[in-house]
Amino acid sequence: MNHKYIIANWKENKTPKEAISWLEKIAENLTTGENKEVILCPSFALLPVVSEVIKRLNLPIKLGSQDFPAFEEGSYTGEESPRLLKEFVSYTIIGHSERRNHFGESDELLREKVDLAMKYDIKTIFCVQDAETPLAQNVSIVAYEPVFAIGTGNPDTPENAQSVSKEISEKANGASVIYGGSISEENVSSFMQKDDIHGVLVGSKSLDPDAFSAIISRA
Ligand code: PGA
Repeated sequence: MNHKYIIANWKENKTPKEAISWLEKIAENLTTGENKEVILCPSFALLPVVSEVIKRLNLPIKLGSQDFPAFEEGSYTGEESPRLLKEFVSYTIIGHSERRNHFGESDELLREKVDLAMKYDIKTIFCVQDAETPLAQNVSIVAYEPVFAIGTGNPDTPENAQSVSKEISEKANGASVIYGGSISEENVSSFMQKDDIHGVLVGSKSLDPDAFSAIISRA
């Protein structure tokens, strides 16, 4: 049976109270099945509370961070340390187009982040914007996320996403390729049916627990 990843990227949204109520709501009707892996990526400050509630409710949800530091512990004001993150997450997103565009993250910096995540045994979900975006070595998942599709309600076509994902797959060294960009409960299955798409990265529609659990069950 094919392994499938359903990943929620909450971005810069939700307070602790809102995060707890999301988890309590999703706990009411979350069915994953053996082959579906659900990964939630909240903001750094939410990780302790989210991880505690996941344990308390015994939810089949793993945690990821939305970014990863390029430096190990020390004098790096404003950064999170890999050792601290390791206590909460088993995955991290690296290279999201919002990091590349708003924070000027270069391919070289992203490679350093991937190497450090690997050193701490944290699996990387590496975002690329097309088949030409340079890939980092040693990533577990590559997310194909065309910029025009992110947060616009205008996804790529499943056919084009399949052909780009196939191209990425051929150079991804065994990493799983997933698709992200305006995924909804209505369109998720048309992407998941494609041979080279093994999961979805969901932004806006992951904020609503009902929409996200519908996406999980249709994936
Ligand atoms: P979206 O975001 O689902 O809101 O398009 C996807 C992403 O940025 O990962």
